[in-house]
Amino acid sequence: RATSRRLVLATKTLSISTMANTSEENSGNLKKQLAKLFEASLRETVPSKHDVEPLVAACTAKFGDYQCNNAMSLWSKIKGKNTDFKGPPAVGQAIMKNLPPSEMIESCSVAGPGFVNVVLSKTWLAEKIQNMLVDGIDTWAPKFSIKRAVVDFSSPNIAKEMHVGHLRSTIIGDTLARMLEFSKVDVLRRNHVGDWGTQFGMLIEFLFEKFPNFEDVNERAIGDLQAFYKASKQRFDTDSAFKERAQKAVVCLQGGEPKYRQAWAQICDISRKEFDKVYQRLGVHLEEKGESFYNPFIPGLIEGLSNKGLVQESEGARVIFIEGINIPLIVVKSDGGYNYASTDLAALWYRLNEDKAEWIIYVTDVGQQQHFDMVFKAAKRAGWLPAGDCMFPKASHVGFGLVLGDDGKRFRTRATEVVRLVDLLDEAKTRSKAALVERGKAEEWTEEELEQTAEAIGYGAIKYADLKNNRLTNYTFNYDQMLNDKGNTAVYLLYAHARICSIIRKSGKDIEELKKTGVLVLAHPDERALGLHLLQFAETVEEACTNLLPNVLCEYLYNLSEYFTKFYSNCQVVGSAEETSRLLLCEATAVVMRKCFFLLGIVPVYKI
Ligand code: ARG
Repeated sequence: RATSRRLVLATKTLSISTMANTSEENSGNLKKQLAKLFEASLRETVPSKHDVEPLVAACTAKFGDYQCNNAMSLWSKIKGKNTDFKGPPAVGQAIMKNLPPSEMIESCSVAGPGFVNVVLSKTWLAEKIQNMLVDGIDTWAPKFSIKRAVVDFSSPNIAKEMHVGHLRSTIIGDTLARMLEFSKVDVLRRNHVGDWGTQFGMLIEFLFEKFPNFEDVNERAIGDLQAFYKASKQRFDTDSAFKERAQKAVVCLQGGEPKYRQAWAQICDISRKEFDKVYQRLGVHLEEKGESFYNPFIPGLIEGLSNKGLVQESEGARVIFIEGINIPLIVVKSDGGYNYASTDLAALWYRLNEDKAEWIIYVTDVGQQQHFDMVFKAAKRAGWLPAGDCMFPKASHVGFGLVLGDDGKRFRTRATEVVRLVDLLDEAKTRSKAALVERGKAEEWTEEELEQTAEAIGYGAIKYADLKNNRLTNYTFNYDQMLNDKGNTAVYLLYAHARICSIIRKSGKDIEELKKTGVLVLAHPDERALGLHLLQFAETVEEACTNLLPNVLCEYLYNLSEYFTKFYSNCQVVGSAEETSRLLLCEATAVVMRKCFFLLGIVPVYKI
């Protein structure tokens, strides 16, 4: 199941070698290390085709750990041309024979139409795991060729509700930022809040009307911005005199009139405080550069684009036509104002030229896909971005599906209100706390421990339930499911980690000492399987990051705990002759699990 999904993805995503730095030695990435060996062999096997990219993948069959699939395509390129080979299997044999000697390989075989299967050396695998335990898991981090990225995520709108879609954006964006940061990319975590636009005229006018001495009104009085926003919208739609005043207010605001600017700043501040509460609880850090920030850059940029002949007049508006899309990108509205697209063009320009970012990643619902598609294509026409998709600098839209309620419809609470994020977090925490109390933890732990564990589990459950799905699919929000301690949930995984920690504690051994003096051996088949999976961490993070798919890492984490369970039920740890080695394997599993949790923004728990 896991493999088929990856194969499908592989066909439409960019090849890892285009972005990851392959020249780097000592990477924890097994696949890449093998690819290097096969690259050398391919060059030797068919010297005339020295640019063939090695196709190496983890094996699904029982033949080995990895497989090289070059023989067939290589054969189709050389057959009929003065070659000694009799067919793809012979090419496979030659590829195998020409592999440079390496400590990492135990044995090879050629199967079927020319697959070269590789069995990795147990000793080598064990040594790598032990090195990681000593040198730290950062030595297994992917190494990318880019230095700086922008992740534009969360990005709620001032005075409007921060809804479940923004929660998804926050959770997914944070994970992507964490994975890139782990890979030593400098990440600018940008909160592109909607803090500009005509809606502010309407809101400000409404508030001025309601509070004639607005300057003296305290924050509490205008605290329920959402309700005011709704009311002002209604006035705007039904009362033409109000509408006119609201439009004038926009002009005053954009013209920088102090009274209006002040009101605007105050409104932004109130919303910001609400957003921050959510970020704090989720442990997410963002740097706000809202739409208003890019506003001053727009006129100059549009002029520049006009001079290049990119901007056309259309029905009173100024637009950019995009090949293959039948609606144009409006960059100046017919009333002369700028819009969401003009702002995004300016933001993209700024990020490329001022921030000097090489990869700019936008996390929003799939509904905005066309918008970003058009903005990126306009940027390519303008020459800001290279034409192809495989080169940096590069802009990527990371779309995600809807969150559904149990009724299969868009997730809402009663009375069709959008769900308040803080309420979701509260509920998850309350429920996980209740479950802990039921297990007698209130007596066993301090109140603080109980609180912290309930938060780790509750918030972790919400995040994991979101991240484990391919982000493009819709998923159903269900507390019972996400807080279940069995199955593919954060609760199950956090418990699994805590159990490993308790095995190590109960052994009474000093694990730091064992790391230095003990020897890790992968003798039993279940030890070997777990060990191999541990070593596949690096290539998994790299894949999740390159293809911007957090679910790939979730799937890895879940499988890791399955491999561990199998190992633990078949191999006695404490009190066995292999105790030292097995404790080290337990520790390595815990270390990798913790790094996965960290990358997913989940706080681990150590006892349960
Ligand atoms: N504020 C927008 C929304 O709530 C999301 C902004 C996404 N970022 C961007 N650069 N357009 O839908």
